[in-house]
Amino acid sequence: MILVTGATGNVGRQIVEQLVSAGAPVRAVSRRPEQTAWPDGVEAVAGDLTAGLSAEVFRDVTAMHLFPVPDRVAGVVAGAEAAGVRHVTVLSSLAADSDEHGPLSRRHLDVEQAVAASTMTWTFVRPGMFMTNTRQWAPLIRAEGVVRQPYPDSVTAPIHEDDIAAVTVAALLDPGRHAGRAYELSGPDPLSQVDRMAVISRAIGRELRFDELTREQARTDLLRSPWMSEGLADALLSLMAATVGARDGLVLPAVEDVTGRSPRTFASWVEQHRQEFVGA
Ligand SMILES: NC(=O)c1ccc[n+]([C@@H]2O[C@H](COP(=O)([O-])OP(=O)(O)OC[C@H]3O[C@@H](n4cnc5c(N)ncnc54)[C@H](OP(=O)(O)O)[C@@H]3O)[C@@H](O)[C@H]2O)c1
Repeated sequence: MILVTGATGNVGRQIVEQLVSAGAPVRAVSRRPEQTAWPDGVEAVAGDLTAGLSAEVFRDVTAMHLFPVPDRVAGVVAGAEAAGVRHVTVLSSLAADSDEHGPLSRRHLDVEQAVAASTMTWTFVRPGMFMTNTRQWAPLIRAEGVVRQPYPDSVTAPIHEDDIAAVTVAALLDPGRHAGRAYELSGPDPLSQVDRMAVISRAIGRELRFDELTREQARTDLLRSPWMSEGLADALLSLMAATVGARDGLVLPAVEDVTGRSPRTFASWVEQHRQEFVGA
């Protein structure tokens, strides 16, 4: 049995689907499992990572995928170990590798380190920016045809959530091949924010405008979110500033190395989500 936490998330949903397609038995954890339509055959259970997971959740589980919630992670790891789980994949972050942007890396490092301290084998999945973050642009694009952000020329190589899931599923199905590996993942193309806007513009057949925010304006916007701290907002903005015009070294080989195929393009992601940018 393979246990998937974070199973209703952008990545977790795909992990569940891909495991089911591969014929693996799946138990999916959610705080509100009754609110999700699960694929046939999935055993959905209630569980909250900040409260610890019960022994029943781990029954017959040989491998698990861990969504990065650092509070009480030691208890979750101890529970898995005691129940006989042998391999853990962690949804981590490219930021985990660097101390430079502390608040971005800390929670991922805390979870990685808790797992590494156990007797279980592990695979750390460290993606950079998700393509799906671009959904945040959709309301303003629909309403005004505008992208309002700081640092228009900051560059990332965003990754499709299906590719993050595919690497994770490979490790869950074949722990022997992937144990002890920390896979740093990117999409196939370095894209500035203006490049991403242009891809969306082409897909929806509408001219879009980039309204550049100052760093201070962007910081104020970020801090409106209830889960944003000052430290995290500053780290995110510094990361964007540091990548202005920087295209070298952003595209990483791990998706292709692990899955045997090229990572999905941003244009393909936009095509899948086109309607969200067009509206009714
Ligand atoms: N976005 C990026 O660019 C980026 C880049 C690198 C790494 N990451 C990492 O990826 C994560 C986001 O992944 P995602 O987009 O797949 O997630 P998501 O769509 O934001 O969904 C969050 C998932 O976590 C589960 N969850 C949250 N708190 C929980 C708790 N206390 N107990 C049990 N489950 C809990 C939720 O389950 P229920 O609500 O069903 O309980 C849900 O399945 C980030 O938090 C970050 O760690 C993101």
